[in-house]
Amino acid sequence: SNPVTAVKLVLLGEAAVGKSSLVLRFVSNDFQENKEPTIGAAFLTQRCTIGAKTIKFEIWDTAGQERFASLAPMYYRNAQAALVVYDVTKPASFIKARHWIRELHEQAAPNIIIALCGNKYDLIEGEIEGEDAKRKVSVEEGQKVAEEEGLLFFETSAKSGHNVNEVFMAIGHKIPEK
Ligand code: GTP
Ligand code: MG
Repeated sequence: SNPVTAVKLVLLGEAAVGKSSLVLRFVSNDFQENKEPTIGAAFLTQRCTIGAKTIKFEIWDTAGQERFASLAPMYYRNAQAALVVYDVTKPASFIKARHWIRELHEQAAPNIIIALCGNKYDLIEGEIEGEDAKRKVSVEEGQKVAEEEGLLFFETSAKSGHNVNEVFMAIGHKIPEK
């Protein structure tokens, strides 16, 4: 069998944007309508095959509630990849995501692979733009930040599964061969 590359990945983002739900979708192909907030952090693993590579994602799913913010550096310090998540219906969560990106660039490994995820895409799918639209962060705003900061970018839905595997696959593709 081919060698397994372990990749330490951290999820960061405001409370309730859907970090744990993205992990649940990726690891168990499941979704819970009323998922409880994460306390501290959760650890999960998932293997996947990308071409000739087998990657074992070692996932640290951090808690977004403000009282846990001081723990985050412990989880991103040795991370090779990060998923920074916001909710496309919550502008404050996009501002928070930009703060996390800056903090990662200042404090995390210089070659860390970062994916920016605009989650809860299902809430706005097919919606027509307008004043009372539920979408509050445009796809262009997300793309612009990703381009400026050199990040992968996806709009995702943990609920429908839209782009969830794609995010992890894109990260896996960027992991250098040993
Ligand atoms: P913390 O652990 O507190 O930081 O929150 P979190 O970012 O892990 O959010 P969590 O996954 O617990 O999801 C919060 C709520 O949003 C739950 O009720 C989820 O069911 C819901 N949710 C998560 N992802 C989606 C999504 O893609 N679409 C919709 N409609 N709801 C979602
Ligand atoms: Mg959580």
